Amino acid sequence: MKAPRPLADRAAPTGGAARAPADAFVSPAILGRSPVVVALRRDVRRVAASAAPTVLIAGETGTGKELVARALHDESSRAAGRFVVVNCSAVPATLLEEEFFGHEAGAFTDARRAKAGLLEVAHAGTLFLDEIGELDPTLQAKFLRFVEDGSFRRLGGTRDLRADVRFVAATNADLEELVAARRFRADLYYRLQAVTLRVPPLRERQEDVPLLARHFLEHYAARFHKAFDDLAPDALERLASHDWPGNVRELRNAIERVVLLEDGPLVRSEALVLGGRPGAPPDARGAAPTPPAEDARRPGADDLDLERLELAALVRALERARGNASQAARLLGVSRDTVRYRMKRHGVRVETRVVVEPTR
Ligand SMILES: Nc1ncnc2c1ncn2[C@@H]1O[C@H](COP(=O)(O)OP(=O)(O)OP(=O)(O)O)[C@@H](O)[C@H]1O
Ligand SMILES: [Mg+2]
Repeated sequence: MKAPRPLADRAAPTGGAARAPADAFVSPAILGRSPVVVALRRDVRRVAASAAPTVLIAGETGTGKELVARALHDESSRAAGRFVVVNCSAVPATLLEEEFFGHEAGAFTDARRAKAGLLEVAHAGTLFLDEIGELDPTLQAKFLRFVEDGSFRRLGGTRDLRADVRFVAATNADLEELVAARRFRADLYYRLQAVTLRVPPLRERQEDVPLLARHFLEHYAARFHKAFDDLAPDALERLASHDWPGNVRELRNAIERVVLLEDGPLVRSEALVLGGRPGAPPDARGAAPTPPAEDARRPGADDLDLERLELAALVRALERARGNASQAARLLGVSRDTVRYRMKRHGVRVETRVVVEPTR
């Protein structure tokens, strides 16, 4: 087999296709003691150690699919190779094709130099295809061809190259439905679903909620230098009766918000905002706790501290925009300069992660 050229000297691609996991680093481990999570960890270990060339991770939004993908890489014999993340929904098909396969010099007007694609970057490692259901149909075909015979050409190239890559694909869409609607190729679907890991929704593992909540509390308390010890009993009760439409991410965000805006040592039930689907009023589905607005009327309440609110909004917008100041500015409805100025004032720095990550 002809291996691609050494990768060590190759700079990370500058295009937008590959990105580091946005928030998987809040916890590198799949936490939980529920039987479903114990079984999931066991399956991850088995699949990681297997020779499976493709793995599908299915689960609702925020359940931990990206975390599972990384664990599959870290626990495999490919751990010394790279874990490359591609979000199939975020990049136009033409750009994604070039990111995947790379190009030779002169392949198109701007292509002055040859560039290795992500398939080559991920050689001996793992390529994580997030939101595979969004992959453009023409690319689905090209991608399947590579999965089947392992060889490909750079755009504008004539050499057949080979790369040894494990594909881990994630979806929160029902791929079977997409196949029925002719938006996803049946042949690719059958190929992918041969080895499937299902990540259970949080409502099916309620017993993990306190453990996860305390984990996030510890994480954010350390990160934002706040003294929080634990959750108050009524806060735990509220978490236990919630059905978690946003799954673990929703829990994480709820705890993060409390740590940012409140003071410890206990997380109070009233401070928790749950059940917010994007755009929906908080707690529309929940057990009607005291809305945060009521706190805000308390003189001297933290929620009235403009500085703190501004910092919280800034951090949240930057996180949602994955560190992109222009995008954060759009989310906040201010100019990019304003965002930059406020970042400086609050001492907020965006941690730029390398686009293609070498494994730790
Ligand atoms: N079992 C778990 N233990 C610890 N942290 C978890 C667990 N599951 C999820 N998380 C955390 O919850 C957040 C959301 O997880 P992740 O990004 O992997 O979800 P996802 O399934 O990829 O969501 P989406 O479909 O919206 O992309 C991350 O910060 C992740 O670290
Ligand atoms: Mg994800």
